Amino acid sequence: MRLASLFIFIVPALTLLNTLPVPSRLNITTIAAANGQSTIECWQLSAPLVQSSQAGTSGAAVTQLGETGATSYTLLPPQFDGGLHNAPVVQWVSFVSGLAVISLPNSTESATIHGGRNGLILAADTRNVSTLGHKTVYPSKEETVGIQIPTRNNDIPAHTVLHAGPCDREEMDQ
Ligand SMILES: *[C@@H]1O[C@H](CO)[C@@H](O)[C@H](O)[C@H]1NC(C)=O
Ligand SMILES: *[C@@H]1O[C@H](CO)[C@@H](O)[C@H](O)[C@H]1NC(C)=O
Ligand SMILES: *[C@@H]1O[C@H](CO)[C@@H](O)[C@H](O)[C@H]1NC(C)=O
Repeated sequence: MRLASLFIFIVPALTLLNTLPVPSRLNITTIAAANGQSTIECWQLSAPLVQSSQAGTSGAAVTQLGETGATSYTLLPPQFDGGLHNAPVVQWVSFVSGLAVISLPNSTESATIHGGRNGLILAADTRNVSTLGHKTVYPSKEETVGIQIPTRNNDIPAHTVLHAGPCDREEMDQ
């Protein structure tokens, strides 16, 4: 009797896991550039999230970030000031812990990126498109870990611009 009611619970739960609604596309806060200045925008990547059929992640949502270049891992000390700089190349930056606050020299726009699930951004304000670049500080009392993943040939991934300013949490959690 008890076992039977347990199955009644478990079986639908497993079915649910395998058929979770997949969010359509990733929305990514991007440091872009226009008219020689860096900007902060919320981009929606064109590559859709699809249900993985790969062993180990089967049923999970997956999307491609494209071909990439040499990847680096950066451990930033607490309360580090990265100063004003350009993206050295077009790159994904995945903040896995800590906190990064990105601001612009000639604008009040800023983006606060928490390490973790919503810690993936794109930095595309290379020197040839932005004279001054952007400023990044890491105000956390803990270390901030960032993984830099350059895109191949500085390719900018296919996207649409959702709006100026960083993506909201609600735009990344669905
Ligand atoms: C833009 O910011 C730079 C660096 O902070 C500053 O030197 C420059 O005067 C600013 N330009 C304008 C138009 O505000
Ligand atoms: C800026 O430089 C990058 C890397 O060299 C290049 O891929 C990109 O096309 C350039 N952008 C412009 C607008 O010239
Ligand atoms: C991205 O934003 C769109 C439009 O607001 C939304 O439909 C979609 O679910 C968002 N994606 C994620 C992963 O939150």
